[in-house]
Amino acid sequence: MPKPILKWAGGKRQLLPEIMKRMPESFKGYWEPFLGGGALFFELHNRKTISSGFLSDLNVDLISVYKYIRNEPQELIESINNLNYGNNENDYYAARKEFNSKPEPARRAALMIYLNRHCFNGLYRVSSSGNFNVPFGRYKNPRIPDQDDILSMSEALKNVELECCDFEPALKNVEKNDFVYLDPPYHPLSKTAFFTSYNSGSFGPAEQERLFSVFENVSSRGAFVVMSNSDSQLIRELYSSFNIFEITANRSINSDKSGRKGITELIITN
Ligand SMILES: C[S@@+](CC[C@H](N)C(=O)[O-])C[C@H]1O[C@@H](n2cnc3c(N)ncnc32)[C@H](O)[C@@H]1O
Repeated sequence: MPKPILKWAGGKRQLLPEIMKRMPESFKGYWEPFLGGGALFFELHNRKTISSGFLSDLNVDLISVYKYIRNEPQELIESINNLNYGNNENDYYAARKEFNSKPEPARRAALMIYLNRHCFNGLYRVSSSGNFNVPFGRYKNPRIPDQDDILSMSEALKNVELECCDFEPALKNVEKNDFVYLDPPYHPLSKTAFFTSYNSGSFGPAEQERLFSVFENVSSRGAFVVMSNSDSQLIRELYSSFNIFEITANRSINSDKSGRKGITELIITN
């Protein structure tokens, strides 16, 4: 059974029971346009609820890793085996430098996996010049996926469509009775929350409003929509005409350590 290979910041493993409680019992197509580590997709795949889907994300390195896993698993396994970087600061920064020097695509995908497993909190953040700049994560035993992990994930991705694009064009072909799961970068709870920069562009209030229009639009086309987001005033106001569920999550999305325990988050459905 495939486990998510990437430890993605904002990953939804913990919230899966709450999300699954609120999703439709049966549906046609599955759409996940903020894929990240794909916690829900892999869970539903493992439960045999779905075997295909439309998966996308704006992060080009992320989608490239999934495409390698799906299309060229052996080449990727070989590139991972050839990496030769260990779990120490010197190796991490050497790997980061190599990643930023634009190596050939299979090597870059392998380096992306290494960096993701060794960097701070599974963050993906780039500088204004586009260089990956997340510091070393100091984990005791970071796990690099092995051949079995890659091959089982390759199998899971065999029938999915993978695209690197913004959420709005990603959802243009959603149809009645499809299920759309939206897990955008959370609207920050405070100005100091640094968590929103998954990509070089940030996901500010204007993006949350654009997402709301897309939510309304796919909803009016008869799709089932579930979204996770922060428990913030903006999100509560935007979605006041939909179902808003408050749930308690225990996650480290704040720079402020005191904000790490038991914060509430929202799950919104149509
Ligand atoms: C909260 S994470 C998703 C986590 C995922 N559900 C998981 O379990 O790992 C949000 C994702 O949205 C992506 N993203 C940010 N802006 C986007 C946009 N405009 N369109 C599509 N994806 C975007 C980021 O690259 C990031 O992977």
